[in-house]
Parts: sequence; C-alpha cells; structure tokens
Amino acid sequence: MNKQTVRDVNWKGQRALVRVDFNVPMKDGRITDDTRMRAALPTLLYLLDKGAAVILMSHLGRPKGQRTEKYSLEPVAGHLRSLLPGVQIRFASDCVGEEAEQAARNLGPGEVLVLENVRFHPEEEKNDPAFAQALARLGHVYVNDAFGAAHRAHASTEGVARYLPAVAGLLMEREIDVMGGALERPERPFVAIIGGAKVSDKIGVLENLLPKVDALVIGGGMANTFLAAQGHDMGRSLVETDALDIARGLLQKAAERGARLLLPVDLVVADRFEADASHRVCPATEVPADGMALDIGPETVGAYQAVIRDARTVIWNGPMGVFEMPAFARGTIAIAQAMAEVHGVTIVGGGDSVAAVEQAGLADRMTHVSTGGGASLEFLEGKTLPGVAALREKEES
Ligand code: 3PG
Repeated sequence: MNKQTVRDVNWKGQRALVRVDFNVPMKDGRITDDTRMRAALPTLLYLLDKGAAVILMSHLGRPKGQRTEKYSLEPVAGHLRSLLPGVQIRFASDCVGEEAEQAARNLGPGEVLVLENVRFHPEEEKNDPAFAQALARLGHVYVNDAFGAAHRAHASTEGVARYLPAVAGLLMEREIDVMGGALERPERPFVAIIGGAKVSDKIGVLENLLPKVDALVIGGGMANTFLAAQGHDMGRSLVETDALDIARGLLQKAAERGARLLLPVDLVVADRFEADASHRVCPATEVPADGMALDIGPETVGAYQAVIRDARTVIWNGPMGVFEMPAFARGTIAIAQAMAEVHGVTIVGGGDSVAAVEQAGLADRMTHVSTGGGASLEFLEGKTLPGVAALREKEES
C-alpha cells in the first residue's frame, strides 16, 4: 500500500483519532458477532503501546441522523473493555461538542475514549466540513482503520482527513495489501469465484476481474441468468431478464480473451423456495418448467473444486446457492472446503461468503477474510475508496 500507516507516526504525547468500523450485529443490546472489533485490536494495541491516547469513532446501523437508543455505541464500549482488559476505556455520549472535547483533552497515554455513534448527526453522511472539523478538534493525528466503511465519503471516513495528518491503521493496511496484491500481482493460476443472486449486483466485479483471472467460476442465482443467456430454459429459477445482454457480453468477452468462464453443469432444483422443498439434481440444460435452481449440483461441485485446488490465488465473493437452507448449502460449503485446501493465497470478500466460511468453521484456514461487505465489493470492482484516497501518500510528510 502506498499510504502512510500508524507506523509512520511518533505517537508519544499524541491523541490518535481513530475511525473504526464497529458496525457489529446486535440483538437485544448484545453483540452477536465481534469479528470487526477483534480485527481492529492490532491497531489499538499498537497505538496504546506507543503511548498514544486513543479516541475511537464509528457508526452503528443506519440511524439516519437521529439519536436512536438501539444504535448507541455504549454496549460496544462495554464489550471493548472485555477485549482490552486492564485498559481504561471511557465513553462520551456525543462524538462532538464540549463533553467529547474535554474527555479527549483529559485522556492519558494508553487510555481509550469511545465516542457515541457519528451517524446520530446528519452532517456525518453529508460529509459536512464544519462537522468534520469538530471531529478533528478531538485528536492530533487521524487514523482510518475502518476498511468496511472506506467506500463511504462521510465526515469521519473522508472529511476529517482534510484537517489532520491522516494515516491508515493496520487492518486497513492488511485489507488493501492482501486484496490489492492479489488483484495486481497474483500468483497463477488465479481463480475468482463469484456467486450471489444477481448479475446486476456484480457486473463491476465481473468486468474488473475477467481480464485478470485465469478462470472465473460462476455460481448462485446469477448463474441462472448466464445459462438463460446461452438459451437454456431455467424454469421458475431466478433469472434477471434485464441482465441477459450483460451476461451475453461477459460470455463473449471471456471467449475473446480465452479466459475460462465456468458455469454450472448441474443444479439442485426445488419445487419451491422453502427449506423443506422437495428437490433433485438435474443437468443445467434440463431444468424442468416448474423447478427452481437453488444450488449447484455435485458434478459442478467436483469441477469447481478441481479448478480451485490447482489455483495459487483464489478470491471468492458470493454464495453458490441458498446456503441459509441446509438442503441448498452443499455447493457453498464445498467451495469453502476447497479453498481451505489451497496452497496459495485465499481471500473471502464480503457479506454472505464470509458468513458461509464462518458457518463451515473454516474462516481461520483462509489467508484473509475481509471485514468489508460493500467496501470489499467496490474494491474488487477496481474503484478507488474515498476513505483510502484521503490518506497521506508514503512520500508525503
Ligand atoms: C458495513 O456494514 O458494510 C459497513 O459498516 C458500512 O455500513 P453502511 O452500509 O451502513 O454504510
């Protein structure tokens, strides 16, 4: 990464204003998955060890500029105390204003202050300059470790970088280095596995990856649209009729480039979209008129696993079927298992595929499991993320 990081700063006596992505899933005021919080710990421990006072800001949920109790970060601050035992962790009931400024000023080296949800202020999402300045008043140096929110040009992710020296945290650095390295300098064969319901959600990713990969493996609902674009009748399966031309275009581009674009050869077809639907395997070219494809079939699993097994770099985004229903989870779990066996770099980017590797208990067998959903998708699309662009270049001082 060509951006400065926390390692490029002398933290003695400095207040680090750190944007983290503590947008964690919660139920009844309790955190149900603290992966994103744990992923930020290396940066926090580094800063505390170097003698910085650490001020944390984050969003939680989408409160739309309103103070909303269920989106308070106070329980998150409580959970952070259990992750950083022995560290003094305070909480400020607003992220800007006199209380926050005084709490920041009074913070000693090695102490942490968690600010209330930045999205309680409508100015955050508007990237309002005065609000960004009010945030900037809290610290001496800005650290962005919120890869998951780096695709948002908000005050706490982008605007504040105009008013303070701005560097990347260690999680941000790792996300960019691992995913960027795979995209720019992959060890080959380089295989991308793209799934999920819709082609239209993944056009940018498919177009960006197609020229870079040795094989593009397609699964999930979007495979139906590709098969339909080839002229096959997909019965009652999800097919995006308005994306058929896009699918045809991508098939043609792949053929022109000599890239392998793999589509399912068989499918698990159900009579309805229910966990207990009756289902059977059929060739991808023979989906019955009343059937709907909800997973890739066993022959496809074998073919995809073989391609993955031989790869040296694999990026995966999007499930192969309706993996939330056990009867249609086999294809997705099989991909996770094949990735776990790869001798090379394996990256799982975003949302559902991350949930799938976690469900399969294989997350720690991957080189990298991204903490970003939308952010990792935009990164794989080759887009510049505003939260990254705002950080200082390596050679700047
Ligand atoms: C996420 O959960 O993907 C990030 O925290 C960004 O959240 P947002 O989509 O509400 O901006």
